[in-house]
Amino acid sequence: MKHKEIYFDNNATTRPLPEVREEVLKVMDSEFGNPSSAHSTGERARRHMAQARKQLSELIGSDTSKITFTGSGTESNNMAFYSRTRDKTDGCQILTTTVEHSSIQKMCNFLELNGVKVNKLEVNPDGLIDLDKLRKAINDSTSLVSVQWVNNETGVIQPISEIGEICTEMGVPLHTDAAQAVGKIEMDIQELPIDFFSLTGHKFHSPQGVGALYCKDRLLLAPMLFGGFQEEGFRPGTENVPGIAGMGKAAEIRRNNLPELISRMKELRDRFEAMVLDFVPGSKVNGDTKNRVCNTSNIMFDGIDGRRLVKELDQNGVRCSQSSACTNFEMSPSYVLCAMGLTEEEAYSSIRFSFSVENTYEEIDSVVKIIRELTDKLQN
Ligand SMILES: Cc1ncc(COP(=O)(O)O)c(C=O)c1O
Repeated sequence: MKHKEIYFDNNATTRPLPEVREEVLKVMDSEFGNPSSAHSTGERARRHMAQARKQLSELIGSDTSKITFTGSGTESNNMAFYSRTRDKTDGCQILTTTVEHSSIQKMCNFLELNGVKVNKLEVNPDGLIDLDKLRKAINDSTSLVSVQWVNNETGVIQPISEIGEICTEMGVPLHTDAAQAVGKIEMDIQELPIDFFSLTGHKFHSPQGVGALYCKDRLLLAPMLFGGFQEEGFRPGTENVPGIAGMGKAAEIRRNNLPELISRMKELRDRFEAMVLDFVPGSKVNGDTKNRVCNTSNIMFDGIDGRRLVKELDQNGVRCSQSSACTNFEMSPSYVLCAMGLTEEEAYSSIRFSFSVENTYEEIDSVVKIIRELTDKLQN
């Protein structure tokens, strides 16, 4: 029997909204110009880029001149790190955490091979970093502090404003990976002590393969690619205009109803969580539940192999995951949960459910029913 698909893996990616698809198609059909062309077709493409920059800036509270479009959140993260280490030959230090996304973990591995010192702050069992330890770890050689705003597996929100104040006081720039924060938290980044800020469109219903890097002072940026003068030379290569226009539309839709959309996702998540905790003996939420983004629930099912449960849920039409999409195929337990002190077995017993504005109460109720049946089967 074919099951109706219920998609609870929105931290991996979200479905582009119908208005976003329309915008992308419009740009591909009739506004296909190269924004670097001097003629009118190029001018129309430039206008789409300018509009998208404005729409995105309004969602996050930025000035348009501080936004550089990139091809992904991964690229934005890499670029921030590259910019702060490229010309440092004297053994500079990057200070980050043990729970960052793989695009930061792997960039750190690469930088370490090239002589950069990387210090990863551990997190508490609730997933939060210790601010005193952060302050003590900053030293004269620290060229960047990078702390994610929201964790992709647990939804735990780091106190980014306080982290930024410490960095300002110590005279060190702060980068934050905000891939899971944009569109789920109200923000005005120009008011915050943040120097670099990465985002990616596909977490808020834009097409995949388009992101941006906010930089308070764009002169701090160093290009990783070499070529034309696109993005004022900071990101050479002909821009993905349809994708950028789609991301702009998604940002505009999100911004127009942000508080309402946040509370809708939170209601869905809270209903789901309350029912699961009630019906499944030994289930427990991982991570701080007070400082948590509205759409994410990471649940440990005691005594159950989460890998098997994810597979069986998939066979029943329910899409969810054990860790981030970027590490799903690695045969190891979630490094985020292990960093929070869970045992390997507990990490393997845990599943991430992440909701979007497209989910419904009916979906929640039917997934809880399926989870109840499957956990009964798998526990016995
Ligand atoms: C916290 C976080 N950072 C960075 C990324 C990478 O974004 P992208 O998929 O656009 O490369 C993701 C996406 O999975 C993420 O969740």
